[in-house]
Amino acid sequence: MKHIPTTLLVTGAAGFIGSNFVHYWLSQYPGESIVALDALTYAGNRANLTSVENNPAFTFVHGDIIDTPLITQLLKDEQINTIVHFAAESHVDRSIHGPDAFLKTNIEGTHSLLKAAKTIWLDTGVKKHRFHHVSTDEVYGTLSPDEPAFTEQHQYLPNSPYAASKASSDHIVRSYHHTYGLNTTISNCSNNYGSYQFPEKLIPLIIANILDGKALPIYGDGKQIRDWLYVDDHNRGIDLIIRKGRVDNTYNIGGDNEWTNIDIVKRTCGLLDDRFEASEKMAARFPKAPQNSGKKAESLITYVDDRLGHDRRYAINASKISTELGYEPLESFETGIRKTIDWYLANEEWWRRIMDGSYREWILQNYCD
Ligand code: NAD
Ligand code: DAU
Repeated sequence: MKHIPTTLLVTGAAGFIGSNFVHYWLSQYPGESIVALDALTYAGNRANLTSVENNPAFTFVHGDIIDTPLITQLLKDEQINTIVHFAAESHVDRSIHGPDAFLKTNIEGTHSLLKAAKTIWLDTGVKKHRFHHVSTDEVYGTLSPDEPAFTEQHQYLPNSPYAASKASSDHIVRSYHHTYGLNTTISNCSNNYGSYQFPEKLIPLIIANILDGKALPIYGDGKQIRDWLYVDDHNRGIDLIIRKGRVDNTYNIGGDNEWTNIDIVKRTCGLLDDRFEASEKMAARFPKAPQNSGKKAESLITYVDDRLGHDRRYAINASKISTELGYEPLESFETGIRKTIDWYLANEEWWRRIMDGSYREWILQNYCD
């Protein structure tokens, strides 16, 4: 496939999916430039970008998407022609307890980026440009067990403050195409998992808690369903959309991989039990793990109060991106979850620093000038 060189602004580049995207892009298109922008909120971690810090094609800017003059200046000075917008407040539980930050970053922040893009690309006549907005399947609301998976035509019915803020940002992005002619695309993806995911999200939380012998909290009855996709498969979908996707189009990205929460937790438990059985070193490294006292990881499962307004089921119909752009996930859940467990075992310091709250100091000492 022909690749047109781009200079990218990647927002939220120090977060989970954004940092994986930076790694993916720089290895896929060596020499192409990335300006990585991140406000380094609690979820942003400069350590996620260590391996690319010395790449001449990579520049990190510590800044907030809400700072329109900063974004305008960056687009102009760095001659950026593509924005890949990941930056967001992303955790549903936090949005329930404190929605304000979600409305500010996800709605106002996205609008700030759009304003800067309009000023630099439209008002000065930069024809070849693209604003890609990374969104979520949560904008479509919840499905009953037998309903067909979400297509791009599904009605927007967001249920949490997080989902509502993402839905709002999708609409604003769309309006900037219709009103001003900005070249926009949107992707709505299902639940991601993989390396560098902040251990407040289900899969990394479960891995870390098993290793430390802590409770595995299951909200409600644990029968809620999510559709899981390995993070690199999400980023490959975004790459296809940037290169081949039609302007003013929305593409769902997903892996046709529905699991109940309790089953995914039990599967993760089983895989970690296998690791303890396979290597004696695991017991020495993780003395508090239940396997050391002859118990299975599942013994840590603890049912807790349900999340307020908890969506029952998400499922993505990804046939549009697959038919139009030839998209297909490369990882099965079995290969993806094994890679993810390997990564968390190999990067214990990374998650420990986050979980014990000392990571900010560690990042400042090791990763910041
Ligand atoms: P994350 O919370 O791990 O990372 C978000 C990043 O954005 C962090 O580095 C944070 O510091 C940065 N950020 C937050 N506010 C900012 C601001 N005002 N200015 C600049 N940077 C700011 O999130 P994630 O899981 O990597 O999600 C990335 C994007 O993908 C989000 O837009 C999310 O809605 C979307 N998404 C996530 C998933 C998923 O399963 N995680 C699935 C579908 C879509
Ligand atoms: O669907 C895409 C969305 O997936 C993204 O837009 C969000 O940014 C991302 O955080 C994710 O949202 P979820 O709420 O689905 O993910 P989370 O990992 O928080 O929870 C997954 C499921 O597991 C959900 O049904 C809640 C449940 N859960 C979660 C945690 C953290 C538990 O039962 N116990 C837990 O401790």
